[in-house]
Formats: sequence, structure tokens, C-alpha cells
Amino acid sequence: MTQNIAQLKDELTQAIAAANDLQKLEEARVAALGKKGRITDLMKTLGNLAPEERKDFGAAINLLKDEVTALIEKQEAGLKKQAMAEKLSRETLDITLPIRPEAKGTIHPISQTMDELISIFGSMGFQLDEGPDIEDDWHNFTALNFPPGHPAREMHDTFYLPDDADEKGEAAKKLLRTHTSTVQIRHMMGKKPPFKMICMGRVYRSDYDMTHTPVFHQIEGLVIDKNINMGHLKGCLMDFLRAFFENDKLGVRLRPSFFPFTEPSAEMDIGCSRKNGELKIGEGDDWLEILGCGMVHGNVLKNCGIDPDEYQGFAFGMGIERIAMLKYGIPDLRTFFESDTRWLDHYGFNPLDRPNRATGGK
Ligand code: DAH
Repeated sequence: MTQNIAQLKDELTQAIAAANDLQKLEEARVAALGKKGRITDLMKTLGNLAPEERKDFGAAINLLKDEVTALIEKQEAGLKKQAMAEKLSRETLDITLPIRPEAKGTIHPISQTMDELISIFGSMGFQLDEGPDIEDDWHNFTALNFPPGHPAREMHDTFYLPDDADEKGEAAKKLLRTHTSTVQIRHMMGKKPPFKMICMGRVYRSDYDMTHTPVFHQIEGLVIDKNINMGHLKGCLMDFLRAFFENDKLGVRLRPSFFPFTEPSAEMDIGCSRKNGELKIGEGDDWLEILGCGMVHGNVLKNCGIDPDEYQGFAFGMGIERIAMLKYGIPDLRTFFESDTRWLDHYGFNPLDRPNRATGGK
């Protein structure tokens, strides 16, 4: 009997050691300890034995059962560890490998330029705000000191939405915002200065030719505090333009202009040359109009509940396509909206690049 047990133990130990995957180990377990397994069979013979033999033999089988169980567990742990090691080595990812050559998506020049604007104005301490594309007449015009019937409203080729303006009155009339200056109003209403804000987004005008599309993008800026003057305006915009065009010596000048929501109003030009019909920014003695700006009109502050005798400041607005075209040498505004992948291949930006870079294309 003891002889039998020793032999069975040898055989089972070998079978377990030979099981080189979890499936085979399970088969070995069933063959030893399962309902029809060899140890189970041996247990069944106990009933036929004399009581004194049964005691010793029973103890020996139990010991064998424990030993075999322990061997199976050990083998199982080893196999699992090995399987995990194999899985890990199979699944390693070498993050130092170059990106797959077929990765082709590019960042649209508008997105790229917006990232650059956020990066530059963000580093100057401006907060980013936003407002809705569908506006009402009050936020787009009246609050910005365009009185009802004022001719400046006609400069904007506004898209009006069909609505129930007759019931609610002129001010509630819905339209697609014609400029981002609306966000100045939304930013100031019910709040207390100081303000230092930029916002960006789509604006809409009924116009279409080489330099006008019915939808385009603007960036708007607003700075309001107790002692803000035209010097701050000029310094801030000069710093911005020099950072954006990556030229520390870029010339800038202010030229008087008119906007209903600023007084005085100005346009800012940057230095350029136009030799042989080729435009070069930052050289020569010619000028190129780049943005509108001015000191926020007292009426605008009053419309937002701010006392113009206590607070003043400046605002500015710029077309994002326009500055992108100038920086990256894109000749036609309309191509921005054509979704032509060949154009994007050429003018788009590598998604892994940092936002502010000197030259366009890939
Ligand atoms: N809203 C003007 C436009 O669309 C641009 C502009 C001019 C914005 C002067 C301003 C500003 O904030 O001060 O043409």
C-alpha cells in the first residue's frame, strides 16, 4: 500500500511538472483529484480495509492529496507568472519610435493661429472669454453705442434671423453677430473692473469676394481699469504684434479712425515693403492696416453699468484669417473655408509642433 502511494506520488509529480500550460495543468489536476481521479479512486478503496489499516492509509492519502494540491498550486503560479511575462514582452511599446509615416492629419491654420493668440495674450495676463454666435440687436449694436438707425449699422451687412421681434421690440431682434465686440458687453455686464480679456470666434457678414467671406474669425481684446490710457493700448498691441510676427523691430503706428464704441478710435498699421508687388512684413517704409482699436466709449461703459468717470480702458479687434494669411503667406481668404485636403496638406501644421512657429506648411 505505502509502496503504491509513493509510486503514485512520483507519477503525479511528473505529470504536474510536465504540464507546461494552464490547460494541461488542469487536465493533470482532474486526473489526480477529479471525481474519477487516481487519488479519489484510492480514497474509494478505504471502505474495503480493516479499521486499523484504514487509519494509516487514510492519513497517507490525505497527505498525498495535500502534497499534490500544493504542487499544482506552485506549478500554476509559475505558469501564470510566465504567461504574464510573455504578455508584457509581447505588448511593449517603444515610445521613442518615430510616428507612423501614414499619420496625415494637420492642424488648420485658423486653429494654429488661435493657439498662438491664446499663448501670447495668455502670457500677457489676458483671460479668455466667449459669447454666442446668435446674438440680439442690443448686444451687437445698441450696447456698443450704435444708436437705432445709425448709418454705421449699415456697414455691417448683417444677417438677421426671422423672429418675433415685432412683439419683443427692436432690441431683441436676433442676428448672427457681425463682430466679436459683443463679448465685450457680455464680459462687463453686471461685473466690476478690472477686466483684461480676449475672446475669439466666428463672425458673419453678407459679403463674398477675394477678401470677404460670409463667415470669418475675429479676436477681440478689452482692458479696463482705473488708469488705462492710449499709451497702454499702443504698448500692448505693439508687444503683441512683435511676438506674433516674431520680429522685435516690427514698426507700428496708430492712425485716427472711427468706431461707434471707441473714442478716440484708431487703426494700427505695421511696417512693410511692397517692392515689385511682393509684400514683406517688417521691412521697408510702407504701412499695412492690421487692426481696429480705441479707448472704450463712455456710453459703452455706462450701458454695462460701469462708471466712466472711475474706469476707462481700451479695446481692439482683428481678423484672424487676415493675420494668418500675412504670417503664413496664404494668398486667398476663400480657401480657408473650402475644406480642400490638398490645401490643408500644404498650409496645415504638424499636430505635434508647438503653437508659435516661424514658418507655415509642413
Ligand atoms: N468690431 C470692429 C469690426 O468688426 C473691430 C474693432 C475695432 C474692435 C475697434 C474693437 C475696437 O474692439 O476697439 O470691424
